[in-house]
Amino acid sequence: MDFYAEDANIFEGFNSDTSDNRQKVYIETYGCQMNVNDSEVIASILTTNGYAITSNIHDADVILINTCSIRENAEVRVFGRIDLFGQIKKNKPSVLIGVLGCMAERLKKQLLEQKKVVDVVVGPDAYRELPILLRAAEEGQKGVNVLLSREETYADISPVRLDKNGVSAFVSIMRGCNNMCSYCVVPYTRGAERSRDPKSIVREVEELVKDGYREVTLLGQNVNSYRWEESKGMIKHFVNFSDLLEMVALINPSLRVRFSTSHPKDLTNDVLYTMAMYENICNHIHLPVQSGSSRILKLMNRKYTREDYLARISAIREIIPDCAISTDIITGFCTETELDHDMTLSLMQEVGFDFAYMFKYSERPNTKAARLLSDDVPEEVKTRRLTEIIELQGKLSEQSKRNDIGKSYEVLIEGVSKKSQDEFYGRTTHNKVVVFPKGNHKIGEFVFVEILDCTPATLIGKIVNE
Ligand code: 5AD
Ligand code: SF4
Repeated sequence: MDFYAEDANIFEGFNSDTSDNRQKVYIETYGCQMNVNDSEVIASILTTNGYAITSNIHDADVILINTCSIRENAEVRVFGRIDLFGQIKKNKPSVLIGVLGCMAERLKKQLLEQKKVVDVVVGPDAYRELPILLRAAEEGQKGVNVLLSREETYADISPVRLDKNGVSAFVSIMRGCNNMCSYCVVPYTRGAERSRDPKSIVREVEELVKDGYREVTLLGQNVNSYRWEESKGMIKHFVNFSDLLEMVALINPSLRVRFSTSHPKDLTNDVLYTMAMYENICNHIHLPVQSGSSRILKLMNRKYTREDYLARISAIREIIPDCAISTDIITGFCTETELDHDMTLSLMQEVGFDFAYMFKYSERPNTKAARLLSDDVPEEVKTRRLTEIIELQGKLSEQSKRNDIGKSYEVLIEGVSKKSQDEFYGRTTHNKVVVFPKGNHKIGEFVFVEILDCTPATLIGKIVNE
């Protein structure tokens, strides 16, 4: 699933019992995995306050859109959706429309002034207020809260799982971001970084295991800077990400553990050793590089050089020899030359990424780059460079899949393949999707699959006896 796609409508709600007279809420989510998880927190807050969730927009009393500001396209798409919701409201004026998340935070004023159909605007740290704000909106007031918090982690809220497969779940371990990459809007929309109490994380994962989940993905904008401090009497005790990862891995040896996203400047060898030590921590690291040019990395305020990044890759290869590595790349950042671009291409080659999300630079208002640098790479140059990057990654991804042919991997069965009712899909430890005939197996089981072939996006295999 492409979690950063601005046009990806990841989740449209799920059907709960709609035969009662509870008000029904439809939630649509854009953006990253954090947002998907936030929608689950929102669903939890609303259902404990007397609302029901529906996947049918035409059935809804409340339409909520959880939004993304990361690139301009993402915002344009959401504005289009709001207009469509306005059409629905025309036929059913009692419907309340709420804009949540990053765009609510960034564009509160514009939303309230220009989109009259919007009744409620709620930022990422104010979801607990949603029931009150919806009630206010029912009374004809605008329900607005975009206050950012230094403490809110929604630690005590058990997210209502909306993914439907009942096999893998996201667990937020921290919120916000302190990195201040010059291009990025997230520190402004999601506020300062704060970590969640490890006890509440462990409790949530234990509950998931009890409910039959077989995989968790620990989420944060920069998981490697996770840090929890606790005082026991006079003694201070710290839990860092490597400690947390171990705590979660120990909950159940057959629970798969993944995490995202890692920042190259903070990914320590401790984390790599923990990954190597526990069989159930998946061999995959998402390590956004953004650019292969140290000059551009400096302008991006990434706090590492090309050489530093490559040194991290060597450490991964040494400590976890069989580890998949994926990345994010921004092309056409301010002042990027052909030489800088070539350095990105050569770094991609050198690392041989298994997968990558690739984007054209999109200037975000008020970020450091927008204030201090000029968005001077012409659109057609950005497009051409992006095409070159995508083409190269296509080859690298294919190579990475071809290398798997003939090997067998443990696969967690996640669902029925979209293309064929007779096939399941699941993922290998490396986060690669595999499709294979069902045999006598069920969703949620682990099976060994021999890889026979691949398409550009998927591995094709058959179940083998271990
Ligand atoms: N323009 C383009 N891509 C961006 N990203 C973040 N901000 C921008 C921007 N202004 C990308 C980065 C990040 C991913 C989530 O989105 O690659 O890792
Ligand atoms: Fe997620 Fe917000 Fe970032 Fe979008 S801008 S990817 S919603 S954190």
